[in-house]
Amino acid sequence: MYPLFSPARAFFGAIRDYRTLSRGFSSSSFRAAATPNRTALITGSGRGIGRAIALRLAADGFNICVNDLPANAESIEEVASEVRALGREAITTFCDVTKMSDVEETVRKSVEALGPLNVLVANAGIVQIQPSLLDVTDAEMQQIYEVNVFGLINSNIAAGKQFIKQGNGGKIINAASIASYKSAPPSILYSSTKAAVRSLTQGIALEFAPHKITVNAYAPGNIDTKLWEKIDAEMSKMNGLPIGENWKAVEKLVALGRNGIPKDVSNVVAFLAGPDSDYVTGQTLVVDGGMWFS
Ligand SMILES: NC(=O)c1ccc[n+]([C@@H]2O[C@H](COP(=O)([O-])OP(=O)(O)OC[C@H]3O[C@@H](n4cnc5c(N)ncnc54)[C@H](O)[C@@H]3O)[C@@H](O)[C@H]2O)c1
Repeated sequence: MYPLFSPARAFFGAIRDYRTLSRGFSSSSFRAAATPNRTALITGSGRGIGRAIALRLAADGFNICVNDLPANAESIEEVASEVRALGREAITTFCDVTKMSDVEETVRKSVEALGPLNVLVANAGIVQIQPSLLDVTDAEMQQIYEVNVFGLINSNIAAGKQFIKQGNGGKIINAASIASYKSAPPSILYSSTKAAVRSLTQGIALEFAPHKITVNAYAPGNIDTKLWEKIDAEMSKMNGLPIGENWKAVEKLVALGRNGIPKDVSNVVAFLAGPDSDYVTGQTLVVDGGMWFS
């Protein structure tokens, strides 16, 4: 007759439950989560969402290549110091993603200083608000496509070549937007660049899949950064609402009842950068508190 509770049975039962639970998970996926010395390169990581991603990936064990435009020289050093305070290594570079030579040089410096590259986050991006498409200038058209589309392509190519050379796969994560799904004035051009990001993510995922490289994107909604400060200020000029009121107005569209913070996005990027997303590619994950259902 067994007693009602046996410590020995509880112990062996727990082992059996663990074995059942862990069936289907390869030991390599557990190893990957704990492997130190993984490296992530995040473009435009001097502030905003890019900074949050750098710090989250550092907390997850990645060494980080922090880079941004020379105008953000001070802030990339601050982000690098924050990464080092988390116990990881960091280097900084100036990288204008519109210049392929800058992107290639940043990848080269990252590999030289931190070892093989494992993750690229093509985060750098700009926004433009135009009351009417009819008034858009050539310079504006060129600038937004050069940064949001050509810059992202440059980054994907440079990282893709490095991953293929290393022969061990890799992860590319691109900055899309809820604007990737729906275009509307006063940001028609911006929306079109972000629709291109979603399309590029799908196509590059297919091309790079044989090399065990996954390519995904994150699509933020309204996130509290300098980018949204600019939207708010430009909208204010258009509709006369006081500064801050357009930001409050869009909050009413969010099912979860609040606009986002950079951490909301970096949480999702951490999933896309880690082993739990190894079987996910070509996807754009919306991070918007429930505004757009993809
Ligand atoms: N904040 C939002 O609500 C929101 C929503 C959807 C998508 N996004 C996207 O997320 C990404 C990050 O946005 P954020 O809100 O952190 O913006 P942000 O303006 O705070 O930061 C963007 C960073 O990119 C850098 N950058 C700009 N042009 C560059 C270039 N040519 N080369 C290298 N770096 C450059 C900037 O210097 C800046 O540090 C962008 O791609 C943006 O389009 C943001």
